[in-house]
Amino acid sequence: KMKRDFLEVTDLTREEVWRIFDRAKYFKQERSRHRQEEILAGKHLGLLFSKPSTRTRVSFEVAILELGGTPIYLAGQSTQVSRGETIKDTARVLSRYLSGLVVRTFKQEEVKEYGRWFAFPVINALTDTSHPCQALSDYFTILEKKKTFDGLCLTYIGDPNNVCNSLVLMADLLGVSIRISSPPGYPLSPLVRQQMRNPQLLKVSTDPAAFIADADVIYTDTWVSMGSESKEKERIAVFREYQVNENLLSRAKKDFLFMHCLPAHRGQEVTDTVIDGENSVVIDQAENRLHCQKALLEFLHGG
Ligand code: CP
Ligand code: NVA
Repeated sequence: KMKRDFLEVTDLTREEVWRIFDRAKYFKQERSRHRQEEILAGKHLGLLFSKPSTRTRVSFEVAILELGGTPIYLAGQSTQVSRGETIKDTARVLSRYLSGLVVRTFKQEEVKEYGRWFAFPVINALTDTSHPCQALSDYFTILEKKKTFDGLCLTYIGDPNNVCNSLVLMADLLGVSIRISSPPGYPLSPLVRQQMRNPQLLKVSTDPAAFIADADVIYTDTWVSMGSESKEKERIAVFREYQVNENLLSRAKKDFLFMHCLPAHRGQEVTDTVIDGENSVVIDQAENRLHCQKALLEFLHGG
């Protein structure tokens, strides 16, 4: 039997995503009743993180523990990889200790290399160009709140980054209309666009207000992602008009959802009024990481 990895949204089929949503809903209910399933009993899973994390680390550690497994956190900088040991050797050695790996790093090619050499499932916990676990729980959250994807429109405003890329590919998989407003010179990656099977689902604009009125979901993320801190000043200037604030939202639907993967930079990409407002679901979004990742672990580990 071939092991499965989750390195990109496109590693799952539409049917598999729906099955994971179904199981995530089940895990969420079970947790509220204080019931657990020991799907990972006796298994040790490594979390190899080369960038900071609050949500992804804790939600994966708790998910693994509640499924009966043991998480082992490995800070990238404290491993021999940071001193130049190859991913190939590292992954082959870790295969003798661990049954799974969750990797947060820089280049997408690095998670692919782990997938190539690690004998068991590898999960992408964020790279410079993708964040598939985030997209999985974001669409689960949308479904939970809106009950259906039919006729739904998601508008992403700001930097078309890793989170945006995965939202686009998941929209493509699930048949959701997606709109992106980003500044001139900061377009959606052409590589992501090329991967879309239903490109008619996507519209882009440089006008921050272009897709507000039709949006069922309004999503934004930081203007300065991890690894691009050296460009902070210029980015804050470029993105200023793309702030999600009350003025921008004046023509929005009454029942739109405001979403953000967090951490937020209040006063930059979003104002306090919006992120703390009644349309905001950012904390539910973060909670759902836990339930969706349990369902993902069950799926990949053949539970
Ligand atoms: N949304 C998200 O991935 O958050 P962390 O960086 O805290 O893991
Ligand atoms: N785009 C952000 C997401 C953090 C969860 C980053 O890569 O830093």
